[in-house]
Amino acid sequence: MTNTLENIDRKIKAPAKESLLTPRFYTTNFEEIALMDISKSLPELKAILKEFLHDYNRNHFIRDKEFDQNWNNLDEKTKNLFIEFLERSCTAEFSGFLLYKELSRRLKNQNSILANCFEMMSRDEARHAGFLNKAMADFNLSLDLGFLTKSRKYTFFSPKFIFYATFLSEKIGYWRYITIYRHLEKYPEYRIYPIFKFFESWCQDENRHGDFFAILLYSQPKMLNTFQSKLWCKFFLLSVFLTMYLNDLQRSDFYRSLGIDARQFDIQVIRKTNESAARVFPVSLNLNNDKFFKYFDNCARYNKKMIEIEKKSNNKIYKNIQKIPFILLLMIDFIKLFFLKSIDTKFTLNVIKSI
Ligand SMILES: [Fe+2]
Ligand SMILES: [Fe+2]
Repeated sequence: MTNTLENIDRKIKAPAKESLLTPRFYTTNFEEIALMDISKSLPELKAILKEFLHDYNRNHFIRDKEFDQNWNNLDEKTKNLFIEFLERSCTAEFSGFLLYKELSRRLKNQNSILANCFEMMSRDEARHAGFLNKAMADFNLSLDLGFLTKSRKYTFFSPKFIFYATFLSEKIGYWRYITIYRHLEKYPEYRIYPIFKFFESWCQDENRHGDFFAILLYSQPKMLNTFQSKLWCKFFLLSVFLTMYLNDLQRSDFYRSLGIDARQFDIQVIRKTNESAARVFPVSLNLNNDKFFKYFDNCARYNKKMIEIEKKSNNKIYKNIQKIPFILLLMIDFIKLFFLKSIDTKFTLNVIKSI
């Protein structure tokens, strides 16, 4: 009876408006992945599949008593910011689920080991998305994931780009979750909702997913060893980091409610992910160059201006015209970032080895 009443009260949340910075849904060339020669990394793939099958978090995502309360103590602004955080996280997790599920389905007959790994990863992402959607239900909202599947536009990325982007987003996910967890462990007074205490084991799923993509990339030397691959890796590092930076800085009020400075948080996550990427990619970014975060801050300023324009008027054409100079400025700073000298990780790895 209670459940029935709850279901009646719950509103289906309309998906947030799509923009360049919202979590995206991806599709790829499944046939190309199915036919990939993965023999170079077969032992490592078998080992990680064993890890996936172990299913360390099988009993982790179970809501405990701490969830059984109402959240009216949160002021309206914090509540709305938190709901937006849940929605964005749920969409991102669900996007991972859809991609991995489709990969496991399409690869089943041609490449069973990859298909099994993707199946296990889609299991994890479904759990993550479901857990976040249940959290939204605590605020009488839920995302219609079926509708989202059909209504969202899918971006096509070639397998190589899917591997770069998902490797980075899994590692970023790991560093974001663990950094928030460690902070709230230190300052429990900012833990406004119990979901954060699940992040410690949760982030290990993301770490394993990232490791899987690292192994997959190792199995395809062409994706890491050529001059073009070096440029693409640099491009993806910059794009993924900058997207997160712009997203988080425009939501600094949310992070403040957790006692976190959004800019410092992002710098920490970027540093850590850049280090993780350096073990796989042929390049990493030189974050110690003073210009690096100066350009990032410029981009955040232009993005803020564009958000202000978006809020001001209802005339779409007028708004787009007003945004043009800021889009151009942002592009110029992105190009400047791209031409900053990066670090050749092969050289660094050799130095480390020789020490
Ligand atoms: Fe996840
Ligand atoms: Fe993941």
